[in-house]
Amino acid sequence: LTDLTLTAEDGSSFSVHSLILAAVSAFILDKLKEKNMGHSYNTQGKVTTWSVHMDNEVDKIGLQAVIEFAYSGDVSILNRHTLTQIKTAAKVLEVPRLLDLCNNINATKEDQCPKTEQGKISTEVHLKNTLRSIERLLEDKVGCDVILELDGISFLHRIILAASSDYFRGMFTCGMRESHQACIALPFVPACELEALIGWSYSGTLHLSWDCVFEITCTALQLQFQPASLLCLKFMREEMEINSCLDVESFAEAYGLSELLEEANDFILRNFREVSATAKFQDLPAQKLLDLLRCDGLCVPSELTVFRAVISWIQADPEERLAHAAVLMSGVRFPLMTFREFREVRAINLRMECFADKEVELYGSALKEFGFSLPKSDEYCRIRRPKDVLCVVGGDQLDPDVGKRIPSQDIWFANSLRNGTGLVKEIEWRRLGEIPDKPKFRHGVAVMNGRLFVAGGCYFYAKNNIMTSAYYNPVTNTWKRLADMQEPRSNFSLVVHEERLYAIGGDKEIDANTDSVEMYKPDSNSWLVHPLDQALSGYGVSALNGGIFISGGFNCKYVCLVSMVLYHPERGSVYLADMSFDRAQHCMEALRGRLYVAGGVCNLRKFYTNQLACEVYDPVTDSWADFSSLPVPHVGSASAVLEEKLYVLGGYCQDDYSESGLVHRFDPGLQRWETMGKLPGAVTDIKACLLHLPQQFRH
Ligand SMILES: *[C@@H]1O[C@H](CO)[C@@H](O)[C@H](O)[C@H]1NC(C)=O
Ligand SMILES: *[C@@H]1O[C@H](CO)[C@@H](O)[C@H](O)[C@H]1NC(C)=O
Repeated sequence: LTDLTLTAEDGSSFSVHSLILAAVSAFILDKLKEKNMGHSYNTQGKVTTWSVHMDNEVDKIGLQAVIEFAYSGDVSILNRHTLTQIKTAAKVLEVPRLLDLCNNINATKEDQCPKTEQGKISTEVHLKNTLRSIERLLEDKVGCDVILELDGISFLHRIILAASSDYFRGMFTCGMRESHQACIALPFVPACELEALIGWSYSGTLHLSWDCVFEITCTALQLQFQPASLLCLKFMREEMEINSCLDVESFAEAYGLSELLEEANDFILRNFREVSATAKFQDLPAQKLLDLLRCDGLCVPSELTVFRAVISWIQADPEERLAHAAVLMSGVRFPLMTFREFREVRAINLRMECFADKEVELYGSALKEFGFSLPKSDEYCRIRRPKDVLCVVGGDQLDPDVGKRIPSQDIWFANSLRNGTGLVKEIEWRRLGEIPDKPKFRHGVAVMNGRLFVAGGCYFYAKNNIMTSAYYNPVTNTWKRLADMQEPRSNFSLVVHEERLYAIGGDKEIDANTDSVEMYKPDSNSWLVHPLDQALSGYGVSALNGGIFISGGFNCKYVCLVSMVLYHPERGSVYLADMSFDRAQHCMEALRGRLYVAGGVCNLRKFYTNQLACEVYDPVTDSWADFSSLPVPHVGSASAVLEEKLYVLGGYCQDDYSESGLVHRFDPGLQRWETMGKLPGAVTDIKACLLHLPQQFRH
């Protein structure tokens, strides 16, 4: 599709797209306008070639630089030897942005690479500017060489269409009939969606919402607007919600998009209760509903939820659907119900009978299942295997046999979550491996780019056992030792912020904490220091909306704090609204845009009456509110968020130092704490995180 031949003074010539050159060069733009004079577009129906011969001054190097700049936004051959030639070409061809680049190199020291210079406009910005110029050419109808019959008539540029869509590239370059036509009609393509995609081709911006994303994606796939369709799929994945997940699923199914289908399916299973209340759910085909019911991974507070979902689906069209009732009921796991729940089944069933005005045999078959096929453990459970696993790392524990505490080197992960009859829940733990060298407790753990980082902590109960070492496990189950931190730390946290790790404060020896913060960059393998306002250990920390929030903790005198701080590695600390309780050794996690704080102790010398108190911070209003108290104390526990639920793991009770080893989780939807069983090993001063494990660990 090149249409312009540019020839330098020495006779060397280049084939280019006049539109791309006209977007950066006022000289070429004028020539193009001259050539088009009198026509608002090129009516020839094919690419008409033309040429421009440069006058003496512009040589091969200069011309080459202008062309490279037009296409890439950068000039690789720009250095002090080529500077004069390039500058001349930029002047003659009137390319102001290239001239700026040249003047930039002029201003810097001779051999210094201009790329490292501050204030230089990035390649990306240059390309954006070029695209914007092309958009302006479109508005002025300069250089248009094809007409598309949409709702009206659109004058467009072949190369822009060809660059954004494989369909158009094929059309214009493979000798199809359309490659010789000035005017193209696509009667089977909806105009509105095509207009959006063409708008994207010229602007790089696609406005998506749930009202239009499916139609736009269809058209993008049909006309092979590849990058645009990736944007659409990304939108569906990242913005998926209760009201759209069923649509996404059927869309993914229809188009054979297996990854998206899996994600949508997982989302539906995970949020079944909410999804079953939507209008779209009532339209599901019977078979689809049955597939969902039969899934082990269906996530519901109780089987009563499943039963109710089926009833509401039937009630949406009882005439038609009562016929499916018996087979659908076989998907409800009645034996997992308590007697109380089952009584409700009977009540609902009685109401159904009146409603349907005929004999419904549901209750009979349900009763049979409830009474006679008692659960044979595993087989009948709902077993949910979350995509990411909850991992617990290190910690320590009292060994009752020897009456001593034992630090742990183990790493465990939660492979599946099981719901038994009524409220019985259980986590299936598996051992993943161990921390290298020594056991660790009171350490820091974080996951960045799928890798598990473990730093600092203690390995025994004596002086001078606080560590500076750090490792990561690249999931292949091998460890790599990183540069040591500059200070030893325990009772601290590692947090990920903008692709970097931060080790914040902590105890550097017995009863002496620090204000230092160290930052770790994977590419440079080193730790750097930016301090806090004051020494701090035993705090809660979480990254949310690109900020690092730190709550409570012990100050240098080991007094518990009520503070909430927004810490920035360069700008330092900003104090936000105080918590209602002073606390340390608590946990804090970000969930649905808020920060949940649970447990811990208040001032060590006071009574510990509020070890159970929980509160939640809303960054929009900068305020705290209480939420349901913990069922048991979890001082010094680990925490993590899995599938939008807050998990609090282990810790101890400050009154008698007893350790229950229990795992509790808070579901913000139900506003309730649930007991999830026990930890597999160490129970206090452990750390938890989420990890994505390869399939062979899960099977
Ligand atoms: C187990 O029950 C809880 C509520 O008690 C629920 O939120 C969770 O999704 C259930 N899990 C599974 C796998 O069904
Ligand atoms: C870390 O915190 C615990 C309280 O859980 C405390 O007993 C211990 O002394 C602290 N570590 C150091 C080095 O101060």
